[in-house]
Amino acid sequence: MTLQFSLAPSSPETVDTACVVVGVYEGGVLTSAAARIDGAAGGAIKQLVESGDVTGKGGSSAVLFAPAGVAARRVLVVGLGQQKAFDAARFQRVNGDAARALGRLPVDGAVSYLTEVDVPGRDAAWRVRTALLATDHAAYRYTATFKPREKSTQPELGRVAFAAGADAQAGLEQGLAIAEGVRFARELANLPPNICTPAYIARQAQDFAAAHADSVSCRVLDDVEMEQLGFGSLLAVGRGSANKPRLVALEYKGGAAGDKPYAFVGKGITFDTGGISLKPGAGMEEMKFDMGGAAGVLGGFVAAVKMGLKLNLVCVVPSAENMPDGDSYRPSDVLTSLSGLTIEVLNTDAEGRLILCDALTWTAQTFQPQAIVDAATLTGACVIALGKHATGLMSKHDDLAAELLAAGETTLDRAWRLPLWDDYQTQLESGFADVANIGGKSAGAITAGCFLSRFTEGQRWAHLDIAGTAWDEGRKGLATGRPVALLAQWLLDRVEH
Ligand code: BES
Ligand code: MN
Ligand code: ZN
Repeated sequence: MTLQFSLAPSSPETVDTACVVVGVYEGGVLTSAAARIDGAAGGAIKQLVESGDVTGKGGSSAVLFAPAGVAARRVLVVGLGQQKAFDAARFQRVNGDAARALGRLPVDGAVSYLTEVDVPGRDAAWRVRTALLATDHAAYRYTATFKPREKSTQPELGRVAFAAGADAQAGLEQGLAIAEGVRFARELANLPPNICTPAYIARQAQDFAAAHADSVSCRVLDDVEMEQLGFGSLLAVGRGSANKPRLVALEYKGGAAGDKPYAFVGKGITFDTGGISLKPGAGMEEMKFDMGGAAGVLGGFVAAVKMGLKLNLVCVVPSAENMPDGDSYRPSDVLTSLSGLTIEVLNTDAEGRLILCDALTWTAQTFQPQAIVDAATLTGACVIALGKHATGLMSKHDDLAAELLAAGETTLDRAWRLPLWDDYQTQLESGFADVANIGGKSAGAITAGCFLSRFTEGQRWAHLDIAGTAWDEGRKGLATGRPVALLAQWLLDRVEH
């Protein structure tokens, strides 16, 4: 069930809802909404503080049922942690906590006053947008490949309103659009590779374009067309699979006809076995998320279209499956890329860069974009360097890098920059081709970025390595929807300035 979101008036004690949500800081300091409820209900919250039922600790919550003097049936009291430490990240976290607590209650709707809480450096529109996204993220359930369940007779959370004035309306609208992009990305990335094939991704893009035909068009190249055009690198990666490669290009026209488009490019490896350079078995199932870059840029595209941004945007997804087979490409093969540069394959598991290089060349040639941002689950080395909190950002363009870092800070979908100095380029030298596809043991995330840089010369280009941020690890780990919010914010900042 998709949640419905709206804005609510600022009167927690009289609002008619199944559940009102208010915050309490650690040490029992009430927020103003909590104080109003407390006043109307004869000190009911303070009593809970005194009894120790409400601590205000982050991650804690308590429910007041049918308090006298309050119109709502329930009051959910959410712990905000220490008031002096309360910041944007805490705000995002407590809104997720609240959504999870609401999900466990038999309520069909709620009105949250957490959006009235002061967050240093952030306005009401940001608070509503961030609360909406955190709520929708927490409420997301993956159901696509389970046996359909009978409908529960218990009420389920279907509506959440956030207390805010009209000045937060833009935040609500942006939040709705970005949430749709995030859900699109998560749903696509969570699907298993026997369903989510290159052809399936292409079909999803075509369906989206058909549903937004006034402003969006879609072009799909199959393996035969790519062969004619010279996508020698991309096609080599897909050769071992029965699921043939595709190149998907979505175009959104929201700006003036002559405006150069922004371009997204996303790695769409629907499953990465490593190919002939086969990966070990343990954890290989996580490589179904190797199309997380594709999902992320498609989600960013969805968000941009839903926001109706006044700019032009293209989203290009090269997609293939990396499998071992009698017809697979092999280490020592020399490929001729679309750019004409030849590539010596030293490891068939460094396949992401091989599909991206042709897609980057084609994107630059076809659209002459004003900037290109690619997203890719590109290297295990990036996970070692930055872990699961920061996306790796690489660019030779300081202004573009700064824009993307700023968008990450705004949305808390954060990136951290790694250098792309020419010093690293020597690691890619080959005795048999213009470039090798791996750069040795050290600086693996950077040498992957360096490889891509060879195919983006003259372009204003940045690379996002999302290997650590695109999904949560573990047996039940889901796609995170990153970097949809970062990409959407980056575009928003381009039209608002
Ligand atoms: N898809 C992987 C990168 C990856 C690994 C993402 C682990 C998330 C978690 C990529 O195709 C890959 O296999 N990269 C190799 C490159 C190496 C052969 C130079 C890697 O990181 O080991
Ligand atoms: Mn690989
Ligand atoms: Zn891969």
